[in-house]
Amino acid sequence: MRMRKKKNLPARIERVSDLHIKNPDELRGGWKAAFSGFTDIHIEIGCGKGRFTVETAAANPDILFIAIERVWEAMIVAMERAKELALENVFFIDMDAAEMENVFDSREVGRIYLNFCDPWPSRKHAKRRLTSPNFLLSYSKVLRPGGEVHFKTDNPGLFEYSADQFKNHGFELTEVSENLHENGVSTVLTDYEAKFIARGLPIFHIVARLKQEDTQNTASLKQDYAAP
Ligand SMILES: C[S@@+](CC[C@H](N)C(=O)[O-])C[C@H]1O[C@@H](n2cnc3c(N)ncnc32)[C@H](O)[C@@H]1O
Repeated sequence: MRMRKKKNLPARIERVSDLHIKNPDELRGGWKAAFSGFTDIHIEIGCGKGRFTVETAAANPDILFIAIERVWEAMIVAMERAKELALENVFFIDMDAAEMENVFDSREVGRIYLNFCDPWPSRKHAKRRLTSPNFLLSYSKVLRPGGEVHFKTDNPGLFEYSADQFKNHGFELTEVSENLHENGVSTVLTDYEAKFIARGLPIFHIVARLKQEDTQNTASLKQDYAAP
């Protein structure tokens, strides 16, 4: 996302500093203890300006939402939107998603949202796609068995690539659509999605569920956190 440098960025960050998690690696393995009272942890990677983040968090006050974004100029807008609504269940981390395993321990997370991530169409840059094998390996570590990745894109090539990668890396596809809003919009939109819909473009959608390892493990995990 190319963005103009925002004026007064440090002052704006200061105003929303209670929503900013500054040392997220210190919470690794301890998210549940640090944020008690929530039934699950959902992560959004690449939240951008946060329309989806704040609307989803507002609609699900029992879920702890952690939004990850590596561009401050976008994330500050998302944080200001969350502040405006006085949301108490959404927090923000400025980092590259490649660092995720330093921040979340194995099985700490119930769901990951990937909305309109950059397609990186050239083979040379394929490793940067957020559904490339190294990222999926990270997701499968931090998600508990049965946890889900919810993926949306406008890009047919990225959609096909991602469906294959999910299937080849321990996930089963439980929902697949090549035109999510064919019968009208019924889900929370992202900022990018609203623009694509206005242009008449179809939205591709996948829900990929991490396969269960063994029922005993899963049963004990369900006592910690209710299934999403
Ligand atoms: C095309 S924008 C989509 C923004 C938002 N999800 C939406 O749908 O409106 C992709 C966003 O992902 C962020 N992003 C891309 N790769 C990332 C990474 N490895 N770690 C964290 N954020 C990333 C970009 O900075 C950008 O804000």
